[in-house]
Amino acid sequence: MSHRSTFQLNDLFPREIDIEVCLKTLKIFQKLEGDVNCVVWDASLVLAKYLETMCQSKPDFLSGVRVLELGSGLGVVGLTAATLGAQVTLTDLPEALPLLRLNIAENKSKIGSMGGYAIAESLVWGDTNSEIQKQEFDMIVMADCVYYEDAINPLIETLKCLNNTINKKPTIYLTQELRDSDIQKKLWSVFYEKLSEFFFIEKIPEEQQHVNYRSSDILLLKIIKK
Ligand SMILES: C[S@@+](CC[C@H](N)C(=O)[O-])C[C@H]1O[C@@H](n2cnc3c(N)ncnc32)[C@H](O)[C@@H]1O
Repeated sequence: MSHRSTFQLNDLFPREIDIEVCLKTLKIFQKLEGDVNCVVWDASLVLAKYLETMCQSKPDFLSGVRVLELGSGLGVVGLTAATLGAQVTLTDLPEALPLLRLNIAENKSKIGSMGGYAIAESLVWGDTNSEIQKQEFDMIVMADCVYYEDAINPLIETLKCLNNTINKKPTIYLTQELRDSDIQKKLWSVFYEKLSEFFFIEKIPEEQQHVNYRSSDILLLKIIKK
């Protein structure tokens, strides 16, 4: 276990996130200092709140739905989906799992009371032998996962493999903060171009997103394998 996988409880502070549609409040522990998987990123709030908005207009949108989250970080998106009734597998690098599992444990009773379920497993992008790749999912969610060059091809491989093992293609919902630096702009355009070779991509307009959790800097995409 690397040093990054451990945490002291007094290095953590909680953040509360309301899920208005079911009157529950998630408690998410973040670290005071750490790697990218130790804080809640805005793109995850936009995606979590979009799922909530969908459940408002279609109450069974997530009921019993098998959801896989890639690059969960602290788990805001996956835990929101589980609280809205989904069966969720949250995944990340092995070193991110202890804090992710703490957040699942913290919210377990709320999730259970809504008929949902959440577990956390390691899934390193590009590891196409992972057991998770053999499971079937109805929906894949991922927030702010495109931010370094070496991850682009493995991430696309993982998305392609997940889609190959099932009869019905899962719907992928992705949010990404579009950052200003040239390097980040280039990364996003390379990712988007590669993704569009294998997937149909639809941009979800801001007016269909949560009224308080949307931003012109954060893209929300609905993606289905060609
Ligand atoms: C910018 S953070 C976003 C976290 C979370 N989705 C959010 O929006 O708050 C990117 C996440 O991707 C994970 N990640 C990075 N490289 C990965 C890889 N090769 N395989 C699996 N997860 C990875 C990181 O550990 C981190 O949790």
